[in-house]
Amino acid sequence: MPTTMAHHGPPVAALHLLLQIHLAVMVCSLLPSSAGAFTSNNTNAAAVAPRLPCLRSQEMALLQLKRSFTATADSITAFRSWKVSTDCCGWAGVHCGDADGHVTSLDLGSWGLESASLDPALFDLTFLRYLNLGGNNFNLSELPSIGFERLTNLTSLNLPNCNFSGQVPYNIGCLTNLISLDLSVSFKIVELADETDRYIIVGHHNIGRLAVTNFTSLVANLGSLRVLNLGGLDLSQSTDWCDALSMYARNLRVLRLPFCDIDGPICGTFSALHSLSVIDLQHSSLTGRIPDFFANYSLLKVLQLSYNHLEGWVSPKIFEHKKLVIIDLHYNPILSGSLPNISADSCLQNLLVGHTNFSSTIPSSIGKIRSLKRLGLDAPGFSGNLPSSIGELKSLNTLKVSGLNLVGPMPSWITNLTSIKVLKFSQCGLYGSIPSSIGHLIKLKTFAVMQCEASGEIPPHVFNMTQLEELALGSNNLIGIVELNSLWRLPNLSLLDLSNNKIVVQEGKENSSMVSFPNIQYLKLAACSITKFPSILKHLNDWMGLDLSNNQMHGAIPRWVWENRSTDPSFRLFYLDLSHNNFNSVGYETFLPISLVELDLSFNMFEGPIPIPQYSALALDYSSNMFSSMPA
Ligand SMILES: *[C@@H]1O[C@H](CO)[C@@H](O)[C@H](O)[C@H]1NC(C)=O
Ligand SMILES: *[C@@H]1O[C@H](CO)[C@@H](O)[C@H](O)[C@H]1NC(C)=O
Ligand SMILES: *[C@@H]1O[C@H](CO)[C@@H](O)[C@H](O)[C@H]1NC(C)=O
Ligand SMILES: *[C@@H]1O[C@H](CO)[C@@H](O)[C@H](O)[C@H]1NC(C)=O
Ligand SMILES: *[C@@H]1O[C@H](CO)[C@@H](O)[C@H](O)[C@H]1NC(C)=O
Ligand SMILES: *[C@@H]1O[C@H](CO)[C@@H](O)[C@H](O)[C@H]1NC(C)=O
Ligand SMILES: *[C@@H]1O[C@H](CO)[C@@H](O)[C@H](O)[C@H]1NC(C)=O
Ligand SMILES: *[C@@H]1O[C@H](CO)[C@@H](O)[C@H](O)[C@H]1NC(C)=O
Ligand SMILES: *[C@@H]1O[C@H](CO)[C@@H](O)[C@H](O)[C@H]1NC(C)=O
Ligand SMILES: *[C@@H]1O[C@H](CO)[C@@H](O)[C@H](O)[C@H]1NC(C)=O
Ligand SMILES: *[C@@H]1O[C@H](CO)[C@@H](O)[C@H](O)[C@H]1NC(C)=O
Ligand SMILES: *[C@@H]1O[C@H](CO)[C@@H](O)[C@H](O)[C@H]1NC(C)=O
Repeated sequence: MPTTMAHHGPPVAALHLLLQIHLAVMVCSLLPSSAGAFTSNNTNAAAVAPRLPCLRSQEMALLQLKRSFTATADSITAFRSWKVSTDCCGWAGVHCGDADGHVTSLDLGSWGLESASLDPALFDLTFLRYLNLGGNNFNLSELPSIGFERLTNLTSLNLPNCNFSGQVPYNIGCLTNLISLDLSVSFKIVELADETDRYIIVGHHNIGRLAVTNFTSLVANLGSLRVLNLGGLDLSQSTDWCDALSMYARNLRVLRLPFCDIDGPICGTFSALHSLSVIDLQHSSLTGRIPDFFANYSLLKVLQLSYNHLEGWVSPKIFEHKKLVIIDLHYNPILSGSLPNISADSCLQNLLVGHTNFSSTIPSSIGKIRSLKRLGLDAPGFSGNLPSSIGELKSLNTLKVSGLNLVGPMPSWITNLTSIKVLKFSQCGLYGSIPSSIGHLIKLKTFAVMQCEASGEIPPHVFNMTQLEELALGSNNLIGIVELNSLWRLPNLSLLDLSNNKIVVQEGKENSSMVSFPNIQYLKLAACSITKFPSILKHLNDWMGLDLSNNQMHGAIPRWVWENRSTDPSFRLFYLDLSHNNFNSVGYETFLPISLVELDLSFNMFEGPIPIPQYSALALDYSSNMFSSMPA
């Protein structure tokens, strides 16, 4: 899977805010008389207690820490206020909460700093309660194995996206006052709207991930823990994660272990963690059932179990839970269940059960859940009619529907979904023409009708939806001529799939508007009666997938197809499928300057030596041609 760079988003920021609130509350309850001196600047002067400046030992530790970061433009700006012999309690990111000159809070979060490793001077700040070094680059170093145990007052330890590697030191487990622990690396999944259901994991590129091998040792003394975020860590050896949490972390409110490579079932003792409000175990290898007792967790708001191998029947009670805001079970292929009638006072915003073995009709009561924003019913087992009440969901921004036995005309009420950004019908029985009123949905970024029974011509209004990023209309009964040059009006288009219809794709005349031809990354035009390699594709840079199979192209593949690639040889394309055409020449030397996952040249009339991708390839199909030799 390729990864691309992205900065960690609102969730981390929100967590931070939450912790600041915790901290403020705690500080006030410990020190009622002097609290006003540092938490508020409008307290009247009489209440202000004497306040000591920063102690020398604290200043020395901070200056040593500062020196341990590489001097860059960012760090010089960030540390501008950190000057020798000034009161360190006033330095940016530093806070002395007890008015006795000890540093109690250090927040260097996202300062863009770089360091060879975490300097042990940090551990001289023994009065620290809040520590955040998140988003700085520690260059794949290991966390110091001794030192953390000295920070006994620490309640909040935040080291997300720090590029540490190796083991989480077990002495973090000595910090018995910890309320919040975040060692995560942020990742996100981007699903592509093509028929292959590919997805891409987006996150920090080339970043270290920590590992925990004995979860029990880490959490056995962390009974105060309320927030635990170990997203992206390697927990594949931590077979005890579930029992250990259930036994020792009974106060947990927020549990985030996505992308952690954990396997096995959710253990029965997990029922002890009934105060959880967030359970995020996305993208691991969980097996077994979703425990019925989740429906009894009265504070539960977020349940994210997508991209696992969960199975069995989901208790319908989970969907009736009154506080749940997010239920995300998608991509659990053998997880079964059915949707009950959900009452109108539900708080649900995201209901995602796509790519599961869910089967039922879609209750029309779903249109009464006004809070819904994302509705993912893209499981092939849905049947019956698509209730028009969904058209009343004014806040809906994502609607995905499947159902081989879900029949009826393409709904015209979709036009009423004026907030919609992602609209995807796939593997369904919906028939008839795509309503031209679709053009009113000007916010649409993804529009897909795939493997359904849609017929008629593609309404020209589709090419007026200028925000479109993905247009996937493959495997229907659509007809008509589509000129590729009409795409110039969709500047942000990155995926186009018109394959396997009765559509004839033509190039159209190249004209000056082609300078703004969209930079499509995934183009699928299989079986589109194409007779000539579309030269318009020359305008694409760094495309990731091209499927022109089952057309009537002949002669040589244009040389630029092989050459228009990124100069970075590690840049890989997913697929190039030119099978089932009449090409007779690869149009290049024996070694192709590309690196890819799948290359399919089968069922053509290629002659000469077999061409070889120069860098790497996973699957190559050269069959049914007239190649003469393998290169030596
Ligand atoms: C405290 O000071 C800050 C900055 O000097 C100011 O923005 C804020 O409004 C003040 N707060 C109160 C409650 O006076
Ligand atoms: C990071 O590590 C690389 C080699 O692993 C080294 O060349 C580089 O100097 C280090 N950077 C810092 C800031 O220590
Ligand atoms: C921890 O905090 C308490 C109360 O604020 C204080 O008395 C104690 O000295 C602190 N311990 C350390 C090691 O800083
Ligand atoms: C992590 O550190 C390695 C080694 O220095 C470096 O190559 C990589 O770019 C760093 N990753 C990030 C996200 O800073
Ligand atoms: C994990 O650590 C605990 C004590 O901290 C120990 O009892 C247990 O045997 C360890 N488990 C493994 C698998 O090493
Ligand atoms: C959920 O709570 C109800 C009522 O308290 C109880 O009858 C039921 O057994 C509980 N279910 C589970 C799975 O714990
Ligand atoms: C999928 O659901 C159907 C219908 O509910 C059921 O008969 C079948 O056993 C399920 N398949 C799996 C693998 O659970
Ligand atoms: C949902 O409610 C409708 C009408 O009230 C009823 O006909 C239907 O059987 C109910 N469905 C389920 C699954 O309870
Ligand atoms: C769609 O909106 C129109 C006009 O506002 C309204 O007449 C129609 O009933 C709506 N349809 C649905 C299914 O909500
Ligand atoms: C597309 O937009 C243009 C310019 O706004 C407009 O003139 C044209 O009628 C629209 N075409 C369709 C089919 O909606
Ligand atoms: C295309 O995407 C860019 C960046 O996301 C955005 O600023 C721009 O408005 C989009 N253009 C259209 C026509 O939607
Ligand atoms: C380019 O071609 C498109 C589609 O045929 C047409 O709408 C547009 O007016 C042409 N632009 C120019 C500058 O000729």
